[in-house]
Amino acid sequence: MKLALNGVTKSYGSNLALNAFTATLEPGIYALLGPNGSGKSTLMNIITDNLKADYGSITYTSDEGVSENVLKMGVRFREKLGFMPQYPGLYPNFSIERFMWYMAALKGMTKEVALEQIPAILKAVELDDVPRHKIGALSGGMKQRLALAQAVLGDPEILILDEPTAGLDPKQRISIRNYISRIAFNKIVLIATHVVPDVEFIARDIIMLKKGVIADNAPPTELLKKIEGGAADRHARTLDFLNGKRGGTILPRFFLFSCIPGKFVA
Ligand SMILES: Nc1ncnc2c1ncn2[C@@H]1O[C@H](COP(=O)(O)OP(=O)(O)OP(=O)(O)O)[C@@H](O)[C@H]1O
Ligand SMILES: [Mg+2]
Repeated sequence: MKLALNGVTKSYGSNLALNAFTATLEPGIYALLGPNGSGKSTLMNIITDNLKADYGSITYTSDEGVSENVLKMGVRFREKLGFMPQYPGLYPNFSIERFMWYMAALKGMTKEVALEQIPAILKAVELDDVPRHKIGALSGGMKQRLALAQAVLGDPEILILDEPTAGLDPKQRISIRNYISRIAFNKIVLIATHVVPDVEFIARDIIMLKKGVIADNAPPTELLKKIEGGAADRHARTLDFLNGKRGGTILPRFFLFSCIPGKFVA
């Protein structure tokens, strides 16, 4: 399975939010790392067909080697997707359990499969002790975990997660990160984040976005090596990178800040 994004471009008026985004995604976790306004959500909304790109195409290739434009595939492609939007619209009057059953029905799941998956997923996101709580009465972190739960429901091949750990406490962050890593086997998982520690040990590649352009795309260890080098001259190297004096890939300022564990991207 492959998802090839080719020259995906989107402007809002004169604001070029995503500029010729090109990447090929294969099973594994990819982190989309970038500061506010860098185009992460725009890209995710385009992949999930919630937004139309101005230019470019997205092609899905099955394990059998059949390639198709995802827009032409329509519902056949959307069935393969699990999407956690950055600001999910959850129904405040539904209970957690009812919402999950409702989503299972929308995804066309059978009762047997839903009955097997829903309790397991709710347990994994630690919402199994409050299945009858109304969504409107949940904390922000609980809503966030429910939004993740509905995305993974149905075991989709492609998971698009827009800031899945935003608003979670440190313990939940780790638990959700580990859960995503456990279920990622054989799936393409794209995670938008501002925080390197959330993805550095689970992502196969970090795609760094800056003002709608890919600033770098490499495995986390390679990216870290680019700025680490010898410990003695690390400070000087960092300053050189910031001042654009180093050859090769120019690491954006936000990446350097985000390398400090627990610090958020500037
Ligand atoms: N609906 C919209 N109408 C107009 N401009 C928009 C709209 N959505 C996004 N933008 C602009 O497009 C650019 C990219 O925004 P986007 O939400 O994709 O970034 P992001 O990387 O997801 O940011 P954040 O980290 O804050 O979620 C920004 O300049 C933003 O102001
Ligand atoms: Mg966003």
